[in-house]
Amino acid sequence: MMRVGMLTSGGDCQALNATMRGVAKTLYNADPDTQIFGFEEGYRGLMYNDYILMKPNDFSGILTKGGTILGSSRQPFKLMRVPGENGFNKVEAMKATYRNLKLDCLVILGGNGTQKTANLLSEEGLNIVSLPKTIDNDIYGTDMTFGFQSAVDIATNAIDCIHTTAASHGRVFIVELMGHKVGWLTLHAGIAGGADIILLPEMPYNFDSVLMAVKQRNKAGKRFSILAVAEGAISQEDAQLSKKEYQKKKANSPFPSVSYELGKKIQDALGQEVRIVVPGHTQRGGSPDAYDRVVATRLGAAAGRMILEGKYGCMAAFKNNEIVPVPLKEVAGRLKTVDPKSDIIREARDMGISFGNEL
Ligand code: F6P
Repeated sequence: MMRVGMLTSGGDCQALNATMRGVAKTLYNADPDTQIFGFEEGYRGLMYNDYILMKPNDFSGILTKGGTILGSSRQPFKLMRVPGENGFNKVEAMKATYRNLKLDCLVILGGNGTQKTANLLSEEGLNIVSLPKTIDNDIYGTDMTFGFQSAVDIATNAIDCIHTTAASHGRVFIVELMGHKVGWLTLHAGIAGGADIILLPEMPYNFDSVLMAVKQRNKAGKRFSILAVAEGAISQEDAQLSKKEYQKKKANSPFPSVSYELGKKIQDALGQEVRIVVPGHTQRGGSPDAYDRVVATRLGAAAGRMILEGKYGCMAAFKNNEIVPVPLKEVAGRLKTVDPKSDIIREARDMGISFGNEL
């Protein structure tokens, strides 16, 4: 009889529950006496020994449910080795919980920061299997993360809705999408929603190029333009600044985000009305779409199999539509970014989409 811990950490997304269901059903199916301990609010539950002994029924009826039945919290990796209040040793506390519960392994669902801590715990001798969660699709070692496709659907729907109102009023609309460091979500939603200009963190923009793209549309008789802008999009000048200088600049900016600054500049330059739309956390909310349910179920079931076969220290990952275990040490601390030279960028550019860096 196996004793398995489970936790969801970091920002939530769709299909966390569907993934846990995949793991649990696979384990219960192999041995109905399997005991699953669900830690509450991610690593916090593991540190403070807050858990629920789950029942098979807890994993029923959650395939379509958004969020996470275990709750989540952000526990920054960089603070893991920093003592908490009264010298609290977070890493030792997590190890103690694992040992006291006599766990055979720990299943960890999370994004980049979470994977780094998963690797740390693996290096500390715990048996870890992790799963790639995030709407950002930026986890190294996997072609696909669960949550991404559902977020793309929501972001695309936001752009679709803007199309009709933008056309009626002849306005420029900026739809700001999630993604501080990477632009996968903006790129996919931008293409799926027919955005005219797509700005990504990986491809610093030049304002004159953005302006030129809007002007060209106006000249061609199009009454409106839609920009899909990642929240982490950055101008070419700002990309030259050090991280510290850029953070200082942002802290002193009168604009809440890059889109508002860009919007004001476009409006001032063209005299055309500009509106900003920020779907924000709606992109992480609601039910997983059908695609994500399949991704989540497959990844979950594969992680269950990895546990049954004792393959630890790995993340279940998609590679060319197959699921493979990728060592956590290869995943931790790396980011999967959009390659400006990739086919998808070239194809989008070939059919007239601007990435704001043409000049
Ligand atoms: O990593 C997922 C994500 O939604 C990012 O796209 C976004 O930048 C960030 O989390 C927002 O974090 P929070 O929910 O903590 O505001």
